[in-house]
Amino acid sequence: MSGLSVLVVGGGGREHAICLGLSKSDSVKDIHCAPGNAGTSELATNHNFTEVSDLVHLAFQLDVDLVVVGPEAPLCDGIADMLSKMDIPCFGPVASLARLEGSKLHAKRLMSDNNIPTARFHVLESTSDIDSALDDFSGNPWVVKRDVLAGGKGVVVTEDRNEAKLFIESSIKTDGKVMLEEFLPGEEASVLVVMDGSGFVCLPASQDHKREYDGDKGRNTGGMGAYAPAPVYSEIVENKAIERIIKPMHNALSKMKNPYRGVLYVGLMIDKNGDPYVVEFNVRFGDPECQITIPLISTDFGEMLLAAAEDNLSEIEVSFHAKHALTVVLAAENYPGPVEKGRLIDNLPKSTTSSWVNHAGTKIENGQLVSNGGRVLSCTAISDTLADAASEAYEIIREIQLSGSHYRKDIGYRAL
Ligand code: AMP
Ligand code: GLY
Repeated sequence: MSGLSVLVVGGGGREHAICLGLSKSDSVKDIHCAPGNAGTSELATNHNFTEVSDLVHLAFQLDVDLVVVGPEAPLCDGIADMLSKMDIPCFGPVASLARLEGSKLHAKRLMSDNNIPTARFHVLESTSDIDSALDDFSGNPWVVKRDVLAGGKGVVVTEDRNEAKLFIESSIKTDGKVMLEEFLPGEEASVLVVMDGSGFVCLPASQDHKREYDGDKGRNTGGMGAYAPAPVYSEIVENKAIERIIKPMHNALSKMKNPYRGVLYVGLMIDKNGDPYVVEFNVRFGDPECQITIPLISTDFGEMLLAAAEDNLSEIEVSFHAKHALTVVLAAENYPGPVEKGRLIDNLPKSTTSSWVNHAGTKIENGQLVSNGGRVLSCTAISDTLADAASEAYEIIREIQLSGSHYRKDIGYRAL
């Protein structure tokens, strides 16, 4: 297998990382990206489409061998189902399985049917049930989750009973129901599991940093930086996660008529006894997690994605570099609040084999690189030690000029 032509759907940091991985794959000849960003335009042909029907049409017109879907929304809207009807291999699950991310309640039911460890929860549909449910989980922060795709804004974790109550009431009003979940204490880790009907491959576990400020303070964000491998995911924890969570999920998802073909993001909370619990599932690569896990794959990335899209994963060998990777996100002024786009980005460092810039919210305007989102770019480094990867990533992020931008100074602190 060689000379593949691949269409990558999406235009953020995740899709730039996917394009970078594909560009280093011997199996891949051509890369297209829709809509892409300034970073993908250096590796792929960008096409300005975002509607599912346009993307399917584009895949057909370009006669690609594989479509890799980055974000969850087109998967929930059925892009994999449509591509399957046209016999175009797709990395990313069909809509009925993408519901795992689209509906947290659906994910909870699947976990309960398969005895997968996760937090206890109540479903609230009427305001009269709120107080008794809050009483049931008192003594810890309350965790309230909307049952809709909310682009990272659907979860509130708070010690303020009144804030929890108000969020429950407003969610019942807009969505008809809401979930109140028991708080899980512990340390988080993310595991990206590539799977298909034939088998699964776990990528090295990583740790994201979701809060805006150092020391995990401030508002929740899409992720301010990440590193892998995460030492909290020790071999003992890994074995428990595989036996209790990943194998049962793979069994459940692979026996369907259209098995899960793509990557399952398993968000874990690991308690003080080293027991893992599922916090969330996503049906796509994590961002920024994939910016550091894809570069740790030492075998052909394109071959792995195509194998998973064609149910051949168990036939191929996937291996990893015994190295550490770390990435630091450069965010626009006021992120995670509303941001101004179109600010000039200057002094971008040159890539080397051990450090590079991942583009997220960037574009070229009048021949100049400008910001185009909240998380603008991130600086990634790979090295023999995590400390070296961190110092290289910080060395290059300091060079970049973007007015008002900010970044966390403590990425990787739990492991360093
Ligand atoms: P989610 O969108 O479900 O991943 O939730 C966003 C973040 O909220 C997670 O990354 C955790 O940091 C936190 N969180 C979610 N559920 C829980 C829980 N049951 N216990 C503690 N923290 C949680
Ligand atoms: N970094 C978290 C996510 O991709 O959902």
